[in-house]
Amino acid sequence: MTQDELKRAAALAALDYIIDGTIVGVGTGSTVNHFIDGLATKRSRIRGAVSSSEASSARLTAHGIPVFDLNDIETLPVYVDGADEIDGGFCMIKGGGGALTREKIVAAVSERFVCICDASKRVTTLGRFPLPVEVIPMACAHVTRELSRLGGRPTLRENFVTDNGNLILDVHGLSITDPVMLEAEVNQIVGVVTNGLFASRGADVLLLAGAGGVERYERGLTSATPV
Ligand code: 5RP
Repeated sequence: MTQDELKRAAALAALDYIIDGTIVGVGTGSTVNHFIDGLATKRSRIRGAVSSSEASSARLTAHGIPVFDLNDIETLPVYVDGADEIDGGFCMIKGGGGALTREKIVAAVSERFVCICDASKRVTTLGRFPLPVEVIPMACAHVTRELSRLGGRPTLRENFVTDNGNLILDVHGLSITDPVMLEAEVNQIVGVVTNGLFASRGADVLLLAGAGGVERYERGLTSATPV
């Protein structure tokens, strides 16, 4: 199977987590695009979605799925999103698509985070994928210096502006042994909007697609169950 076929398999497995009559939290990225396309086939079962990006909102709307404003909602039973890396403790690096801030906001409101990935995203230690950091434009040089002090090599993502009108620094060279601490530390730098470590609020369920099928991992359980 190709990587895209694996992404699709993980995404379709997440449809089992949708609760009838509810609003679904929807992430961003190529894996999530497969989820949105699958969700369209179950449109009549849900009230609609809350989206983490303009791109996902456009895709949901094109499928006729109503997109709600997060401010009109108190809680979301389920949020489905991909990741760039996920470790054994369900901590993730996200933001390869630049939607990390809105993703983190929707995840914060959600009761259950279902992460959908192909097997290449599973890692022992986070950090080979450069850590995305969303930055207020006027603070870019300051944040670059501070991130270098933490031992990383920040590079400005070229020709990219987030949905919030900000910039992304991709931080190379970090070996992230304490993701909760680093997430908090980077967020303390003045000018950082948020960073792509999802550690203090990680995933609850991982649907991991590999050559042998889709495996389901639940936070707190050590073994996988086939979907
Ligand atoms: C976007 C994200 C995505 O979830 C992450 O980049 C994975 O993307 P893909 O499903 O395309 O591999 O965090 O900001």
